[in-house]
Order: sequence, then C-alpha cells, then structure tokens
Amino acid sequence: MKDQFEREISYLRISITDLCNLRCRYCMPDGVCQKDHRDILSFEEIQEITSAAAELGIHKVRITGGEPLVRRGCVELCRMISGIPGIREVDLTTNGILLPRYARDLKEAGVNRVNISLDTMDPEKYAYITGGGSLKDAMDGIQAAFDAGLTPVKVNTVLIGGFNDAEIPAFVEMTRETPVELRFIELMPMGGEFGKEAYLPGQIVLDRVPELKPLPENGGVARLYRLPGGAGRVGLISPLSRHFCGTCNRLRLTSEGNLKPCLHSGQEISVRSKHGEALKDTLRQAIFHKPQMHGILDADHPSEAGRTMNTIGG
Ligand code: 5AD
Ligand code: SF4
Repeated sequence: MKDQFEREISYLRISITDLCNLRCRYCMPDGVCQKDHRDILSFEEIQEITSAAAELGIHKVRITGGEPLVRRGCVELCRMISGIPGIREVDLTTNGILLPRYARDLKEAGVNRVNISLDTMDPEKYAYITGGGSLKDAMDGIQAAFDAGLTPVKVNTVLIGGFNDAEIPAFVEMTRETPVELRFIELMPMGGEFGKEAYLPGQIVLDRVPELKPLPENGGVARLYRLPGGAGRVGLISPLSRHFCGTCNRLRLTSEGNLKPCLHSGQEISVRSKHGEALKDTLRQAIFHKPQMHGILDADHPSEAGRTMNTIGG
C-alpha cells in the first residue's frame, strides 16, 4: 500500500535479534545486554506479522539483526518467511562469519541473496573495527555465499575517515574480477564512537577512483558505477549527503515487535499481541504515517532513532 506521500511501501526489514558475534565500533561499541527471550518475537509471531504485511503489499523481506545467524533456527525462520504467499524475495544482511556453516541451508530455505559487511581487508584492522573478529572468517563467508548461489552477493563497506579511506581503490579493484556489488555506505551518526573527521561523503570514492563509470539508476538506494570491463559493480549509498527519503519503500520491525516507519525517527508502534484485523490496521497506520523525511543528519545532528544500529539492523 501507499503512504500518505504516495510512496509504495513494499519492503519489510525484520531484525530478529540485537545480539551479534562481533562488536563493530560504529554499531554497538558498548556491547549489548541480552533481552529475555520472552521479550523478543517468536518465529510464529514474525510469520503472522509478515503475512499480514504481505496482504498489504509487502513483497520483499530482509532478515537482519544484530547478526541474524546467531539466533537459533534462523534458517527455519527464513523457510517460514519465504513460504508466505506474496513474499517474492527474502534476503539477509550478515557479517558473514557464520555463512560457511549456513549458506547452503539458507539457499535451500528460499533465501535469495545476502549482503555481507566488510569494512577493511587488513586482518589487524578487521580485528580492531569488529572488536576481535577474524578477517579470514568473513572472507570465507563471502566465498560460501558465492558457492551456495546466494547471488548477486553485495558487500557493505562503511566509509570511515582515517580508518579505511586508503583502502578505497583496493576495494574497488575487487570488482574488476569478482561479480560482487561493493557498496560504500556513509557512516551514519547512530551513537558509535567515531567523531566528525570520520564522516566521509560518498563522492570521495569517485575522487579516489576516477575510472568509475556511472550506470543507469535502477530505483535502489545505491547510485551504481562500474570499472570499465569490470565483472562487478560499485554502489554509493549516501544517507547523509543525498538522502533517499523521497523514494523510501521500507518499513522496519524490531526484534521486540515494534514497527519503525523511519530508521531515523523515534516513532515506534508495537504490534505485539495484535492479531487479524487489529494487526493489519496497526500496519496500515504505521505505513500511512511514515514520516516524509528524516531531520538533518550529520556529525552534529545524530539520528533521532533513539537506538543503536544493532537493534535496528541497518
Ligand atoms: N552507519 C552506516 N552503516 C552502518 N551499519 C551499522 N551501523 C552503521 C552506521 N552507523 C551497517 C553495517 C551493515 C549494515 C547493516 O549497516 O556495516 O553492513
Ligand atoms: Fe554486528 Fe553488524 Fe553491528 Fe558489526 S555492524 S556489530 S557485524 S550487527
């Protein structure tokens, strides 16, 4: 269905846990307290909410976290979601660490593709930014996604000034031989530990790698580019320098059962314990009243989400 600003809302992002096996410094620097399992939606509840959303026109779902693969039964949940009439696409956002174990099962459960986070290709820097993660595990995860056919694989790289900007050309180079979509994402001020100097505009990628050629717009949030003759693509996602609220088609569901019509708004609507028409009505309200756009977002004006990223899922 359409919101009051004529945007067709067709994409539901579901965070199934706040927990993560990494601790990325821009995401959950302080760690997390584990919620009681009774406080988070059961798989049956997620299925019921998604079915109601599908009846209202949601046809694409992304499973996120935290790290979705740390929740026991994640593969089964994906199977439940992909079986819902009207759901045409189920994707997953992951740090990749557990993909060697789960990639094939996810594919078999109806997951179409995965986005994998990778902010550096240097093992020591990887351990630093993720609070102790192993680069090899993440790289093995990316390979596992390719091997299982969870394609096109997208790799998400958050641009962090003074941390990974020197690696921009090396990241782009990866797309020459590998059919991956590498997406540079502007760091969003969500309460992580980085200061002003860390916020880089997406334009820096084009400045550093002038050979990149623009591709036609495809309606997604990323502006797309390609190296001449390159096998993959480079995407720029610029939530700060070029916000995409005007074409936003998303609705979010948190692990404790709150609908979030906008990532950067504090507005949340609980759908917990709602069923049937009452559930659908609440979904309709949330969609209809999705804010037109978020407020100013920069290092001086942090997100009004009122949550860290691990509780929203990006
Ligand atoms: N700014 C930009 N991207 C972020 N992510 C997590 N926190 C932030 C932030 N503050 C990214 C992760 C992951 C995706 C879900 O969101 O790196 O790729
Ligand atoms: Fe975990 Fe993703 Fe947050 Fe990193 S960005 S701590 S991988 S949820």
